[in-house]
Amino acid sequence: MMDLQAIRSDFPILADPEYIYFDNAATSQRPRQVLEAVEQFYKTTNANPLRGLYEWSIGATEAYENAREKVAAFIGAKGPTEIVFTRNATESINLVAYSWGLANVQEGDEIVVSVMEHHSNILPWQMVCKKTGAKLIFLECDKFGKIPEQEYTDKIGPKTKLVAITMVSNVFGIQNPIADIAKLAHANGALLMVDGAQAAPHTKVDVKALGADFFAFSGHKMLAPFGIGGLYAREELLDKMPPFLTGGEMIEYVTRQDATYAELPHKFEAGTVNAAGAVGLAAAIDYLNEIGFDFIEEQEKKITRILYEGMKDQKYITLFGSENPDEHSGIVTFNIEGCHPHDVSSVLDSEKVCVRAGHHCAQPLLQHLGVNATARASVYFYNTEQEAERFLESLSHVRSWLGYAD
Ligand code: ALA
Repeated sequence: MMDLQAIRSDFPILADPEYIYFDNAATSQRPRQVLEAVEQFYKTTNANPLRGLYEWSIGATEAYENAREKVAAFIGAKGPTEIVFTRNATESINLVAYSWGLANVQEGDEIVVSVMEHHSNILPWQMVCKKTGAKLIFLECDKFGKIPEQEYTDKIGPKTKLVAITMVSNVFGIQNPIADIAKLAHANGALLMVDGAQAAPHTKVDVKALGADFFAFSGHKMLAPFGIGGLYAREELLDKMPPFLTGGEMIEYVTRQDATYAELPHKFEAGTVNAAGAVGLAAAIDYLNEIGFDFIEEQEKKITRILYEGMKDQKYITLFGSENPDEHSGIVTFNIEGCHPHDVSSVLDSEKVCVRAGHHCAQPLLQHLGVNATARASVYFYNTEQEAERFLESLSHVRSWLGYAD
């Protein structure tokens, strides 16, 4: 049995009980174990990794490569050669689009995305389609966030070159059936790119069991520092893909007119790498493994149920997504009649409650739902039942703050 107060005491920023942090889908908080690992790296091992032949640089290289092994094990990759460090999921998806996409997609091909994608998993494919003449196809979802099976079978076919889909929606929190989509994509000769930014922090990911060809994630949503994330790709794919960025350390040999590239995965990591970020990510993975995804999922469900049940029968509140709070991955997206979501967020902020408001970088989805903006509360395993109750209390003040009589 995990001690929630002990867990919370690991997070310095949560020490102030006045604040309720319900914007975890945007970025998580960091435990001292992660902060200390980064500080320790700078205090004891800092040097440019992969270059120096002296102790500190060798230590920095080791720390960086150990972090890669940890990431590989965390998401079920075959090994570290299948993990490329990037800044975040956005950069990982762009890497696949610019490298694999521009080299493999042709006029007449189709790239299938879903309407619930974050802009990060739409714009790179718009770019590939514009440059190659391929067509971008959208899987539609119903108002509960579910993509009907027929959408998949109708839209994934012999012309499909790639299916690019999120594992967990950042608006609905719903989890898409990735393993089934992988089978369908592969049966049609297509590859599967999974945006795992909202999944990796909350549920156990096994890229091989899922059948993902590419899997992107961000460290900052899973306790790690900003500026470190990763891309998993099958080794055979990475091997054939051209580099995305070019420059230092991604080469084997350079002449005036040409170059040969470094072994995997270094071919994809041009320039000085974010070793301290990778060390922080390794510490974050240790922390998540210690807590365990059973506890993480259970705690998030507990809090989400309180939020959902407390909001669902409220006269002026509209909730988005599944009617089953257990299908929300800790995300509750809502609107309050007559109140702009930015105002909702500001009123909550005046009571020290942090939520996100706006389009959540998912404008095609909001257009599909017929709204310009929503408010969104998103929880993580360190949130408490008391916070959920206080959030509901603050929410009940919003309309009167904004001048409504009831
Ligand atoms: N993608 C992040 C979110 O949904 C920033 O808030």
